[in-house]
Amino acid sequence: MKVAIASDHGGLHIREEIKMLMDELGISYEDFGCECSTSVDYPDYALPVAEKVANGEFDRGILICGTGIGMSIAANKVKGIRCALVHDMFTAKVTREHNDSNILAMGERVIGAGLAREIARIWLGADFEGGRHADRVKKITDYEA
Ligand code: RB5
Repeated sequence: MKVAIASDHGGLHIREEIKMLMDELGISYEDFGCECSTSVDYPDYALPVAEKVANGEFDRGILICGTGIGMSIAANKVKGIRCALVHDMFTAKVTREHNDSNILAMGERVIGAGLAREIARIWLGADFEGGRHADRVKKITDYEA
């Protein structure tokens, strides 16, 4: 699995935590910033990552900002993206199983690095269940088309 990861200045520390996790898990990833020496605009990071996932260059994406909301709103504008804003371990699992989410968004001003790490671990390890859930996801992709 290849993961594209990015954050704005509000998500810098969790981004580093998740990169350490992916190193431990042997998951290959590419970091698309930010450099974060100043305040930056989250769409400048969410949209390129979302496009790289949508065009198949990467299998999944992880986006972190202060709340996770801006990143998730922006990423979900890209056709083919199902970005889930997650702040608990239950929905981390279920959004993979039911929604086949291909981008995970989190907010560093909402949760700590420890919980973010567990959420990412669960989300990266969980599989889509298909079946009736595939029919539901198809209704979204049909709408996009
Ligand atoms: C940046 O201050 C903040 O607005 C951003 O990180 C994010 O929370 C937006 O949704």
